[in-house]
Amino acid sequence: MKIKTIQTIDELRRELNEYKRKNQTIGFVPTMGYLHQGHLNLVTESKKENDITVVSIFVNPTQFGPHEDFDSYPREPQRDSKMLEDLGVEIIFYPSKTEIYPEGYSTYVEVEKLEDALCGKSRKGHFRGVATVVLKLFNIVAPDRAYFGQKDAQQVIIIKKMVADLNHEVIIRTVPIARDEDGLALSSRNVYLSTTERTAASSMPRALQAAKKKIEAGLRNTDIITGMIRDEISKNPMVKIDYVDALTLNRLEKVKEIDLNNTVVAAAVWVGKTRLIDNFILGEI
Ligand code: PAF
Repeated sequence: MKIKTIQTIDELRRELNEYKRKNQTIGFVPTMGYLHQGHLNLVTESKKENDITVVSIFVNPTQFGPHEDFDSYPREPQRDSKMLEDLGVEIIFYPSKTEIYPEGYSTYVEVEKLEDALCGKSRKGHFRGVATVVLKLFNIVAPDRAYFGQKDAQQVIIIKKMVADLNHEVIIRTVPIARDEDGLALSSRNVYLSTTERTAASSMPRALQAAKKKIEAGLRNTDIITGMIRDEISKNPMVKIDYVDALTLNRLEKVKEIDLNNTVVAAAVWVGKTRLIDNFILGEI
């Protein structure tokens, strides 16, 4: 079947109502485009569990700070469309900025406390933008299930809390991090890295992996673990640490000892002008 690209909310609702009338289930994968294997893994999971899959491609302006990379964020909708068609996706929702945020738009979603930890500290307002657009997309698509990557662990935790607090019916699925051969987590932003920056960037997954091994061997003290990760990453002068933290998965709170069922160990670094994140989790989100 040929993939349908729909740009307006009205048309998307009309189209999806046809499937809903026939009691078909809808899987939803929200993206900002410039797709990589990590996104395709979300699509594959959705295809397994639902009758049809909708993928949105929308570079959401409200989740970028004034000095961030909204303008330069990579966009290649035709390439994305081809990749999604090859996977058998039924619908791409590709709205314009004004379709999502019409003139005079003024309603935002804040998930208190959770948005202040980790990336929220250095990206003020980022998760307000994410929660707002994701809730709008959930209201537009009304999916049975929605799929998110574990690389953005804080994003998944915030969206799950928003869904629970606001009594949304959508089921949130988290899909493991997809990595390149050098261990670097796949990200649309990896395209910004030069070859030397890329080599430097791989110190973050290496440091996280080494810390995970220490935990498996019995180490529990969060200060020692995060200190080890920082030391390992700092060996490479091209990599500047934004944060390294070990927090509870459910509340994103600091703890002295690692809980093997409820911990996220997460890091964010700058390599040149590129900000990269990565994590591992103990337990489930
Ligand atoms: O993870 C992303 O690509 C974005 O934050 C999302 C969930 C599509 C919202 O714009």
